[in-house]
Amino acid sequence: MRLISVALLALMAAAPVWAEVKGDPAAGKVKAYTCTGCHGITGYRNVYPHFHVPRIAGQNYEYLVAALKAYEAGTRKHSTMVAQAQSLSEQDIADIAAYLANTTNP
Ligand code: HEC
Repeated sequence: MRLISVALLALMAAAPVWAEVKGDPAAGKVKAYTCTGCHGITGYRNVYPHFHVPRIAGQNYEYLVAALKAYEAGTRKHSTMVAQAQSLSEQDIADIAAYLANTTNP
């Protein structure tokens, strides 16, 4: 157990962990469903017109993963997004980012 965590730590130090996880856009499309309510990527409809929600469709894959990891770790603070990110696994984040990065909705 101890050895495994030491090995994991070494791995994390050596390379960005997310580079090891491959995102599946098809799975990401399903997982990103809850995000669309706020981020409005379907037809870019914003259901909450009075607060600013950044556009995430078409963003750079690495940027999306980094942003979600920052919320998850709490280094980027926004109560809603922290809660969202903490409910996602590493694979979920990779899948969602792979989907969003390949979506061209304006
Ligand atoms: C309840 C509304 C809501 C939901 C649901 C939501 N978000 Fe967000 N999201 C926001 C808001 C508001 C911000 C801007 C927060 C800030 O200023 O840091 C944001 C920011 C982001 C950012 C950073 C964008 C940037 O330009 O830096 C990403 C990436 C993101 N959300 C992805 C997601 C994903 C993926 C999901 C679904 C798992 C999701 N969000 C669900 C409201 C939401």
